[in-house]
Amino acid sequence: MTAPGPFRVIEGGRTAELSPGLLIVGAREVVTVAGGVRRGEEQGDVGRLRVEDPGDPAAPVVACWEGRILAAGPRDAVEPALEGSGYPLGRFARLDADGGTVTPGLIDPHTHLLFAGSREGELEQRLRGAGYLDILEAGGGILSTVAATRAASHDDLLAHGRRWLEEMLAHGVTTVEAKSGYGLDLETELRLVEVAYRLGQEGPIDVVPTWLGAHAVPPEWRSRPGAVDGYVKSILDEQLPGIAAHGRARFADVFCETGVFSPDQARRILEAAAGFGLLPRLHADELAPSGGAELAAELGAASADHLATPSDAGIAALAAAAETDEPVVATLLPVTTWYLRKDHHAPARRFVDAGVPVAIGTDFNPGTSPTANLPLAMSFACINLGLHPDEVLAAVTINAARALRLEDEIGSIEAGKVADLVIWRVPTSTQIVTWPGADLVRTVIKRGRVVADRPGH
Ligand code: NIG
Ligand code: FE
Repeated sequence: MTAPGPFRVIEGGRTAELSPGLLIVGAREVVTVAGGVRRGEEQGDVGRLRVEDPGDPAAPVVACWEGRILAAGPRDAVEPALEGSGYPLGRFARLDADGGTVTPGLIDPHTHLLFAGSREGELEQRLRGAGYLDILEAGGGILSTVAATRAASHDDLLAHGRRWLEEMLAHGVTTVEAKSGYGLDLETELRLVEVAYRLGQEGPIDVVPTWLGAHAVPPEWRSRPGAVDGYVKSILDEQLPGIAAHGRARFADVFCETGVFSPDQARRILEAAAGFGLLPRLHADELAPSGGAELAAELGAASADHLATPSDAGIAALAAAAETDEPVVATLLPVTTWYLRKDHHAPARRFVDAGVPVAIGTDFNPGTSPTANLPLAMSFACINLGLHPDEVLAAVTINAARALRLEDEIGSIEAGKVADLVIWRVPTSTQIVTWPGADLVRTVIKRGRVVADRPGH
């Protein structure tokens, strides 16, 4: 590896005119992840095109046209095929991958992108032995971020979102899910969903907004009798209809955990949300088994997330869902268990063995996973969850796309899909996980256009 220049986001957003064609040449490796959602023995079957010498006429290339993938394959096959099918090579800008690796743009399927403030004091508390939920119960944790976020303006949150999205882009992320959940009242939850939506419109990263009004019981409800049920009722009567009328959130999520929201409360919220067209996903069995995995399977959720401590029945329920046409993705978040200093990790191998599609996300948030670096989470998925590098690559591409129900559009390099691509300055994708935390991205392509690079390399 040579020293990189500074990471540069190329101005122009998605309004700049596309060059009709882009041909990425000079790669040692193109990992397509073509062929649909990965599970079971196929979780790690990523589809690797590879040569030792990037000057080899059979070196893999990727051709894009007007923002979509046209073809991927050996140069000496793709170039004549393009010419022969009405795509003259002269109309393609050539981009040299310089012996690196090309993968689909990464997809982070679980983030709490938008918040204000920071929680360094809480790390101190936990190092002295305080528990995560004890801190929340005492009015800190999520509630301290709620106070800071309620005080933040639309513009403050936009600026914060841009700052962290840029960091995600620098680590190869081209689509991200962004949860609300630090407002816990209609006005602030709307602001969070709206800012997430705006950031996606602004680009270059696509942002998928999720409403997480049931992230904690807000302070104004906590002293009342029947606080949790009271807040759930207010969500059903006011917050959810308001979010649905706004029309920007695509998913609904609940923090289903002992001491936060029960499976029954989560079911009521997610069923009502589904009635408004918001697809269910949930924080399930993060700290203790509480029936979250079972509920995700029962509801046919897009994804069950965390799953650090599912019960055997929960794993069996997800395994049964995996046998259907609508498998629930297990989205595992290994940085969170590490940052909370837990000695248990999500049983990733059991999910793979049971045929459950596994995705990996950062869980980026100020309390339990203050990192926006998805490749770092990929390294943790190998080291702490025991997944293999290729299984992890599928987990942050096609399976993460499926967790967001976008698998027909993104998550693999195959004809017709959106041309979201990353050129890595390592000779094989396997190295992405073997340099934890490193800056390995050379170029990011979104909808067929170079949106960020490290010049001089
Ligand atoms: O996914 N567990 C709930 N929500 C977040 C943490 C939120 C916070 O602590 O601010 C999570 O870990
Ligand atoms: Fe989370």
